[in-house]
Amino acid sequence: MAISRKQKQIMAFPFTKYDALICDGAIRSGKTSFMMLAFIDDAMRRYNNQRFGICGKTVDSTVKNIIAPYLGLSYAKRKYRLQWKRSDKTLIVSDGKKENIFEVFGGKDESSFMLIQGRTLAGVLIDEVALQPRSFVEQALSRCSVDGSKLWFNCNPDAPKHWFNEEWIKKAKERNALHLHFMLEDNPSLAQRIIDRYKSMYTGVFYQRYILGEWCVAEGLVYSFGETNITDEIPANGEYYISIDYGTINPFSAGLWCVLGDKATRIKEVYYNSRKEGSMRTDSEYVNMVLKLAEGYNVRKVIVDPSAASFIEALRRTHKFSVLTANNSVLDGIRRTSVCLQNGNIKIHRSCVDSIAEFGLYRWDEKATTDTVIKENDHAMDDIRYFVNTILRYKVKGVDKN
Ligand SMILES: Nc1ncnc2c1ncn2[C@@H]1O[C@H](COP(=O)(O)OP(=O)(O)OP(=O)(O)O)[C@@H](O)[C@H]1O
Ligand SMILES: [Mg+2]
Repeated sequence: MAISRKQKQIMAFPFTKYDALICDGAIRSGKTSFMMLAFIDDAMRRYNNQRFGICGKTVDSTVKNIIAPYLGLSYAKRKYRLQWKRSDKTLIVSDGKKENIFEVFGGKDESSFMLIQGRTLAGVLIDEVALQPRSFVEQALSRCSVDGSKLWFNCNPDAPKHWFNEEWIKKAKERNALHLHFMLEDNPSLAQRIIDRYKSMYTGVFYQRYILGEWCVAEGLVYSFGETNITDEIPANGEYYISIDYGTINPFSAGLWCVLGDKATRIKEVYYNSRKEGSMRTDSEYVNMVLKLAEGYNVRKVIVDPSAASFIEALRRTHKFSVLTANNSVLDGIRRTSVCLQNGNIKIHRSCVDSIAEFGLYRWDEKATTDTVIKENDHAMDDIRYFVNTILRYKVKGVDKN
C-alpha cells in the first residue's frame, strides 16, 4: 500500500509533543482511514485495559464508515485480535499482552450523548467533527482524563466562523495541536478518473470546501444560473411531476417537470403572490391551480412543502395524484441542485419567468455565521429544491457524496 507524506505525518503524530491532531481538507483525501489506523496503534502501544471513544455523526454511520472498513483491513487483522460487539457498540482490540476497548458514539444520537457523560476515556477520535454538535464534542473531550490521552479530529471545511475553525484550527498553536491540511492528491489510491468525477460533483462554495479544502463563506448568489440552463424546447414525452412550495401570505410556487432518464425540464409553472395580487387564495383555489397545471399530462407524483399539512390533505382528497411530502434538507438540496444545474440535468423552459427571476435574486446571507440563505425570492427555489431532493437525486449519478 502506497502511503502519502501527509498520511505518514498522521502515523508519526503519537511520537510528537502535540496533544491533538487536526486533519481537515478535501473529501476522500485519506484522513479517516489513516487516523483510525494510527489511533488504534497508538492506544495499543501505550495503554492496557483502557477505554477509548470513536465518535461520528451517528452510531450507524460511524460503524459503517470507520469500524467496518477497519475490521476488513489486513494490516489490522495481522496485528490484533479484533472483536466487534454490536450490542455494546464496542470494538475490543488485543495483541496477546494488552487489551483495550473502543466504544462508538454518535454526536447526533441523544442516547449517545447521555452515555458518553459517564465514561472515562484515554483518548478520542472524532470523525467529521464539524458536523457534530459542539456540546457533544466538548463532552467527549472532557471525558479524556487519563494521563497522556490524545485527541484526534478530522473534518471537511465549513464556514470560516464555524466554531471548530475558530476554536481549534485557528488556535492550533495555543492548544498544542498539530494541524494537517489534506488535498485529494494526498490519497495515493485515487485514480485521475475518480478525482475528475469528484470534481464534477460540486460547484461554487461546495467545490471550494470539498475539493479545494478551504474554509470559506457562502456568499453572493446561491446558484450560478445563465442562458445554458434555459431551454426553448419541450420534450415530447417523459415522466411528469409537480413540485410545490406552499404560501398564503408569501408566494405559492408550483412547477411541472418532465423527466427523461437523468434529465429534467421544468416545462410550466404557476406562481401566485397574494401581496402583489391583493387577495389571498384558499387551499381549494390552490388545488384548482395545480389541477390546471397538470391538465393534459399524466402526473405521477406531486411533491409538496412538508409544512403545508392542510393543503396536502386537500390535494390528496382530489384522488388525482400521489402526493409526497418533500425532503426539506436545505444545504444538501442546494448542493444537489447546483450540481444538476451545472451538469445540465435541469433545464428551465424560457416561459418559467418567475423561477428564472428568482435564480438571479436568491442569495446567501453573508452576515450569518453558518450557511444560511436569505429567506426572500426563495419560493420557486424551494419547490425546485424539493423536486431535486425527493425525485431527481435518485435519477442522477454522482449527486451524493458517497
Ligand atoms: N494510502 C492509501 N492506500 C489505499 N487506499 C487508501 C489510502 N488512503 C486512503 N485510501 C482509501 O481511500 C478512501 C478515502 O479515504 P478516507 O475515507 O480516509 O478519506 P477521508 O479524507 O476521510 O474522506 P471524507 O472527507 O470524504 O470522509 C478510503 O476507501 C480509503 O480506504
Ligand atoms: Mg472521512
